[in-house]
Amino acid sequence: MTAGDRKDRVFARPLSEVKAFEFNESVAHVFQDMISRSVPGYALLLRMIGLYADLFVTAGSRVYDLGCSLGEASLVIAEQVRDAECRIIAVDNSSAMIEKCRQHNISPDLIEWHCEDIRQIPIDQASMVVLNLTLQFLPPKERLPMLKKIYTGLNPGGVLVLSEKVVFEDEAENECMLQLYQGFKKTMGYSDLEISQKRNALENVLIPDSEQQHRQRLVDAGFSEIYPCFRGFNFVSYLAIKT
Ligand SMILES: C[S@@+](CC[C@H](N)C(=O)[O-])C[C@H]1O[C@@H](n2cnc3c(N)ncnc32)[C@H](O)[C@@H]1O
Repeated sequence: MTAGDRKDRVFARPLSEVKAFEFNESVAHVFQDMISRSVPGYALLLRMIGLYADLFVTAGSRVYDLGCSLGEASLVIAEQVRDAECRIIAVDNSSAMIEKCRQHNISPDLIEWHCEDIRQIPIDQASMVVLNLTLQFLPPKERLPMLKKIYTGLNPGGVLVLSEKVVFEDEAENECMLQLYQGFKKTMGYSDLEISQKRNALENVLIPDSEQQHRQRLVDAGFSEIYPCFRGFNFVSYLAIKT
């Protein structure tokens, strides 16, 4: 297998019909390349998750990686908490993704891979919950109940990591960020056709909120310490602490 086999070409050819985006086998196969070239700062976000794990994960607690895709965040966390006697529960409802996660050579007492809907899994005794670019795929009405469930399941002092693509309420800022994001994707090797076909496929599948909506929802869920730790064009990542 060469690196070229794993290059994201999902939207490279003109499609007669652009179907709604799915995390299926063809996406899972190239997902590492896709997310690295599509999310500004993705590698940094993973490194930050490792730093949060080092600071916040406590012995005997649970860590949840919700919408884990290929398990990159779980692997980074596992590196940090190897000796902390905690469990990492990584969940995704894409069987193609979870099958690939199960090929990671990690002991099952450290990471459990679950093919389930994140809305169905119980959360408790958590010191850290990761929603790295996942909440945006839930129907908007289900986002607050999801955050409330996470807040309830976190131990005091536990943290939620929430990374999302965002829209901006200020029209000029929104337009500027969209143009910069398009420029970013071009520098990462995507053509105009790939960018526009993927944008169409994601419409009504990835529904972004504004920063104001995220902050208010985190407050409504119960979080009082909310720190934006990263922003790259139209992507933000928050650390929300349960005090
Ligand atoms: C952009 S990817 C997340 C990237 C990943 N967290 C990382 O750090 O590499 C979104 C993932 O969320 C999963 N997903 C979306 N809705 C879900 C749901 N309701 N339950 C479980 N997984 C879900 C998708 O299958 C996909 O793998």
